[in-house]
Amino acid sequence: MGYKIAVEKTKLSRLGEIDFNDLPFGKHFSDHMFIADYSDGEWKDCRIVPFGEFSIHPALSALHYGQSIFEGMKAEKDPEGNPIIFRPLKNLNRLNISTDRMAMPEIPEDLFMSAIDKLVSIDKNWIPDAPHSSLYIRPFMFATEGFVGIKPAEHFRFVIFTCPVGAYYSKPVKVFIHDKYVRAFPGGVGYAKCAGNYGAVMMPTREVQKMGYDQILWLDGIHHRYLQEIGTMNIFVIIDGVIITPALDQGTILDGVTRDSIVRLAESEGYVLQERDISIEEVINAYHEGKLQDMFGTGTAAVLSHIGEFHYKGENYELPPVELREISKKLKHRLTSIKSGKAEDVYGWLHTVAVAVYANS
Ligand SMILES: Cc1ncc(COP(=O)(O)O)c(C=O)c1O
Repeated sequence: MGYKIAVEKTKLSRLGEIDFNDLPFGKHFSDHMFIADYSDGEWKDCRIVPFGEFSIHPALSALHYGQSIFEGMKAEKDPEGNPIIFRPLKNLNRLNISTDRMAMPEIPEDLFMSAIDKLVSIDKNWIPDAPHSSLYIRPFMFATEGFVGIKPAEHFRFVIFTCPVGAYYSKPVKVFIHDKYVRAFPGGVGYAKCAGNYGAVMMPTREVQKMGYDQILWLDGIHHRYLQEIGTMNIFVIIDGVIITPALDQGTILDGVTRDSIVRLAESEGYVLQERDISIEEVINAYHEGKLQDMFGTGTAAVLSHIGEFHYKGENYELPPVELREISKKLKHRLTSIKSGKAEDVYGWLHTVAVAVYANS
């Protein structure tokens, strides 16, 4: 089914107000946003309008009962200046895994892709040129019905806005491994990108940030032993040349697009990579034996961020300097070269936005 997208362009672009050399993450919003509304079992009224506020019902069920999910991906410009987006269909797949878990309606591929193509075409001048900068694309969906009572809503809104962003972390991150709070359990919603997962970690995260750490590295919810993920990143550990990342089979961590890309790049480079349980004891033993070579997080916002130090049960453990972390530096370089269109896209990961088709429609 083809979705017709109506366009109302802004009368006053805010582009000139942005300092593209100073782009804090998530603070600036491009000129336009996409909106579609769902009722009577279908997505309707697809439109691109000037970025701005919504008015909402005080009993909006997303606010009271949490039917709210989101995604995140990035557009860059290839060396010829064409907007390219990294693996958008993998984000769509995950979005629809989240909709399924949260009893929300699916987003069809043609709606998703035509909305993104058209929005990014219209705001293509918001894609920054500087290295490590990009246009962050934030699709999200929430229940719009106003009612009091616990039942799945029947009315939803799907929105996409974009933000020009710079690097997320400028230096290696310090993580705190909590033995008290947990993020997810088997059978829960850890694998869904639902808003509640993020609300639930704010208090513990604020606590560790007050102590000087950047993020929490979560342990599993049952044994409090096995590494899970970090804030908005999946976790990788390198012990004695073997790259290890937690497996996805428990349904407690997010199936990161960056994680999957790093797994595939590592395998193609011939590294030994294991997707399996990894306990904090294994990491600490490797540290004491001098075999813990690297720990890093991966995510759309943070790309590949090295962990400089971790804290567990009163002890700080310092990791080797980034200069010595040859494997992860090589994988990061391969990933960022493909994402920016500078290296051959051997996996077919890049989607080139059809600007000519959309720009003037
Ligand atoms: C909890 C969590 N884990 C991992 C990730 C990394 O996923 P991706 O690489 O798709 O950005 C994210 C970011 O989306 C996240 O929020």
